[in-house]
Amino acid sequence: MGHGIAQIAAQSNFEVRLSDVSEEIVKKGLGKIEKNWSRMIEKGKMSAEDMASFKKNLIACASLSDLKNCDLIIEAATEKVDVKKKIFSQIHEIARPDTIIASNTSSISITLLAAASGRPEKFVGMHFFNPVPVMKLVEVIRGLQTSNETYQTVLSVAEKMGKVPAAVKDSPGFAVNRILLPLINEAFYLLEEGIADAKTIDETMKLGANHPMGPLTLGDFVGLDVALAAMEVLHKDLGDDKYRPCPLLRKYVEAGWYGRKTGRGVYDYSQEG
Ligand code: 3HC
Repeated sequence: MGHGIAQIAAQSNFEVRLSDVSEEIVKKGLGKIEKNWSRMIEKGKMSAEDMASFKKNLIACASLSDLKNCDLIIEAATEKVDVKKKIFSQIHEIARPDTIIASNTSSISITLLAAASGRPEKFVGMHFFNPVPVMKLVEVIRGLQTSNETYQTVLSVAEKMGKVPAAVKDSPGFAVNRILLPLINEAFYLLEEGIADAKTIDETMKLGANHPMGPLTLGDFVGLDVALAAMEVLHKDLGDDKYRPCPLLRKYVEAGWYGRKTGRGVYDYSQEG
């Protein structure tokens, strides 16, 4: 989701520095942003001059240390606690003491991540939704030790990005994923039990509940690895078996079928560009 967050931040005239595990991935992200902007120009939603000026707001970074002068650092790494903790300790080393760190985690405790950040009062949850340029919501989550100033700053940054912030308590899955991920998980149970085939399950929710995409398509869209990781957090941290990840979802992730991003999930995307 990093490139989507960077795109809207750059469009909102923030100077944005992008850092990832490799410069190649940063380049890929920049390519996706340019593609989105070109599409907006074609649709007459922005001008070539706008694009040129937004592009100037984007700076590709070779390493995390290039973020040392940032006011706010938004982390959108993989949903693994250890990976995130490692990133936060590196950021704490290089960033100014007044820099705010926000995590875009989909379900992990903000209080837990904040405690590992070395600056819990400057740490907050800032949860965006896919596709970031389109979805209006940002959940803003306070950890136990998040200061009022940090919280207010991030609420106003979300608004400046053109988003609608929602104040949500630090609880597994926050609000949206507590509802949405069990829906995707349940759709997997239906598939596993042979209640209907994948296309039919998706059609029922599109035509019967007016969802813009079916739950299995949505799972492929957000990433089945992300969906499984979030279900595991819900199951473990809420301690209720109603959140038990569907074995079929787990199998797909074991197979490397993560959805759109790997070319295969519930559906096959290998022929798509
Ligand atoms: N990036 C940027 N813009 C995109 C996009 C993308 N990946 N996909 C679609 N869009 C834009 C299109 O350009 C179009 O813009 P326009 O209205 O200005 O022309 C607009 O979105 C609508 O797109 P389409 O007409 O192509 O297609 P749809 O009308 O089917 O909409 C959709 C696509 C917005 C993705 C819609 O299907 C939808 O809302 N799906 C549900 C998304 C959702 O539930 N997201 C939340 C997931 S949970 C999550 O992210 C949390 C995480 O922690 C797991």
